[in-house]
Amino acid sequence: MKILVTGGAGYIGSHTVLSLLNKNFDVVVYDNLCNSSEESLTRVKQLTGKTVEFIEGDIRDKEKLSSVFTAHKITSVIHFAALKAVGESSQIPLSYYQNNVHGSICLLEVMEKFGVQDFIFSSSATVYGEQNTAPYVETMTLGRPSSPYGTSKVMVENVMADFALANNKFRGVSLRYFNPIGAHESGQIGEDPKGIPNNLLPFVAQVAVGKRDKLNIFGDDYPTKDGSCERDYLHVMDLAEGHVAALNWLHKHDTFAGVEAFNLGTGQGISVFQIVNAFEQATGQTIPFDVAPRRAGDLAAFWANAEKANTELDWQAKRNLDDMMVDTWRWQSGNPNGYRKDDGIS
Ligand code: NAD
Ligand code: WQD
Repeated sequence: MKILVTGGAGYIGSHTVLSLLNKNFDVVVYDNLCNSSEESLTRVKQLTGKTVEFIEGDIRDKEKLSSVFTAHKITSVIHFAALKAVGESSQIPLSYYQNNVHGSICLLEVMEKFGVQDFIFSSSATVYGEQNTAPYVETMTLGRPSSPYGTSKVMVENVMADFALANNKFRGVSLRYFNPIGAHESGQIGEDPKGIPNNLLPFVAQVAVGKRDKLNIFGDDYPTKDGSCERDYLHVMDLAEGHVAALNWLHKHDTFAGVEAFNLGTGQGISVFQIVNAFEQATGQTIPFDVAPRRAGDLAAFWANAEKANTELDWQAKRNLDDMMVDTWRWQSGNPNGYRKDDGIS
């Protein structure tokens, strides 16, 4: 079994590569390093004592991608490579559609050329849009996300569905992630955002380590338990293991063809204030904060119905909120500048 992991040097990709290696899969990583560093894979190799081949390349470069399929007998693809900054996607939407949608199509074309059918795609809870109410279930009609980033995920899901209709051997799995946070328990790999973090936990962690003065909590007047937004936060190692479960599901269902979607979340909504409290409790750090105006595009509350992944993939999030906080802090405090040698502040 040789698994091609696009975007495997990134946050979720590197944790998934670690899980795959620990389960004795052979892994080839293909990443253009536009939002990551090869250092993550060096550390994955140290942690697992296993090798992983790395090829620096862009998924839109079909020639280079083809050379990877020629050199390696790839059996399955896990496709993480994408641009993911929600706010930025409204500034440069064409780059997001180019990279995320056109890039995914290039990858599917090369897979088709080489007769590789098994495809696991990084989708997102954002595909449910504001038309659906929580808990989100896979049977819901996809909504209209509020950003080009979110729309790019819906578009790729639609491309997969149409491709499956035309190619009765294609075996696609769409994993709809909720809010992954945390880091591997070693504290050696973790999330390493460039510049000012957009996401809550990286920002909280950078306040704790002294790189940012205080957190802005975007809104305390939502119709939620304490007025701040609620999300379904899950540990990145649980998410990584969800990919191994999806691969195992594909292998077990050897006659399956088509596309199947699974939510990967805990099924629980946690508010921003609860996150700040949990981080303070777990780490002993104080997080100064201000309540700021709502952030455009934020939904008040959403979380997963994770029953389908529980029953069909035999997957369940095992780590609790305390684990997520402690592991975030172990990574951030041990690596204040992430994988970089400079201070990374911008
Ligand atoms: P990340 O930016 O850390 O990882 C993405 C990786 O893809 C990076 O290493 C980047 O260098 C690479 N990449 C980007 N464009 C590429 C291209 N054209 N060719 C080759 N490599 C390319 O992001 P992440 O948080 O690990 O997210 C992984 C996937 O999961 C993405 O598809 C993202 O949209 C999706 N996702 C993430 C979240 C989240 O909260 N982090 C939630 C839902 C879905
Ligand atoms: C969480 C909560 C903010 C930062 C995004 C994408 C989604 C998915 C995951 C990829 C919200 C609040 C945040 C801050 C704050 N990514 N917040 N102060 O927006 O749920 O999801 O990442 O697919 O598509 O939209 O995650 O971490 O940005 O925010 O108060 O400095 O924290 O308002 O309520 P979000 P987030």
